Amino acid sequence: MTDTLTIRRPDDWHLHFRDGAIMREVVPYTARQFARAIVMPNLTPPVTTTELGAAYRDRILAAVPEGVNFMPLMTCYLTDTTDPDDLARGAASGVFTAAKMYPANATTNSAAGVTNVENIYPVFERMQAEDIVLCIHGEVTDHSVDVFDREKEFIERHLRGIVAAFPRLRVVFEHITTSDAVDFVLDAGPQVAATITPQHLHINRNAMLVGGIQPHNYCLPVAKRETHRLALRKAATSGSPKFFLGTDSAPHLKKDKESACGCAGIFGAPYALESYLAVFDEESALDKFEGFASLNGPAFYKLPVNEETITLRRAEVAVPPVLEIVGEEIVPWHAGQMLGWKLD
Ligand code: DOR
Ligand code: ZN
Repeated sequence: MTDTLTIRRPDDWHLHFRDGAIMREVVPYTARQFARAIVMPNLTPPVTTTELGAAYRDRILAAVPEGVNFMPLMTCYLTDTTDPDDLARGAASGVFTAAKMYPANATTNSAAGVTNVENIYPVFERMQAEDIVLCIHGEVTDHSVDVFDREKEFIERHLRGIVAAFPRLRVVFEHITTSDAVDFVLDAGPQVAATITPQHLHINRNAMLVGGIQPHNYCLPVAKRETHRLALRKAATSGSPKFFLGTDSAPHLKKDKESACGCAGIFGAPYALESYLAVFDEESALDKFEGFASLNGPAFYKLPVNEETITLRRAEVAVPPVLEIVGEEIVPWHAGQMLGWKLD
């Protein structure tokens, strides 16, 4: 049995830091483990311009603890009125690593998102020409579509069309939750990849709805049925370069989750690597973990792999039931559970 695992330092290819005091307290959890992270732009107001992206990056860098090597990779929030020239400038100057498309009202702080995907085809055209990565929240927002079908429906209504119309545009289908998404990504060319969160590898929708409503297992896209979870586990641990780590860590205070209208999002950052590793261990795929966590993402984003290494050891780790940020309680992913690996 393998008891230690040394891999190149990983990156988190999708997460939310928020801003202000909360951001300053959550950044260290990520910087402890990851060398880089793709930072989502769904602030209020959202990060829609190069100027806003550069300023947000500076605020994050100021929150990185002394002596810790961590680089935030910024994304531009696409709207119906995104200026392609500004986006191209932001990418060329190194402020933006990617642009993020939220369908309007699909999730937290997405009201300013794109109202009709086809509206921003001119922006995709420019992104393809400039080789800027497009990150997509892939859910339709049509109220007549069942929430459990929104990802599958997005593939059929929009994603197939985008990928066909822009065959050289690099697309990351973010936080996939269905076997339909796995199949779509596998059938597409090498310019299409996906991130997978730890929660979607660990839980199915029962974890949210059985034995009382479980707000700390609620995120968007919502966890689906068990068949989908198994397809995601197979994809993540398969060794395919098309799948890589993206926690979608999305901090919301305990009181905002445990509410009559609880926020979507799971605070996965504190024990992210330990959480993923439990899955790879259960699937007897420890040898595939470095690819998923540290190699596939940089290859897709055309960035160098990290030179540093980290070591994880088999050891019991008790995840606290709550953590404190900004003087308030926040519930981490795996709250109150034991995990079997520990980051040195
Ligand atoms: O659960 C989620 N929370 N999904 C998202 O897409 C956004 C995120 C957030 O910002 O809280
Ligand atoms: Zn997200």
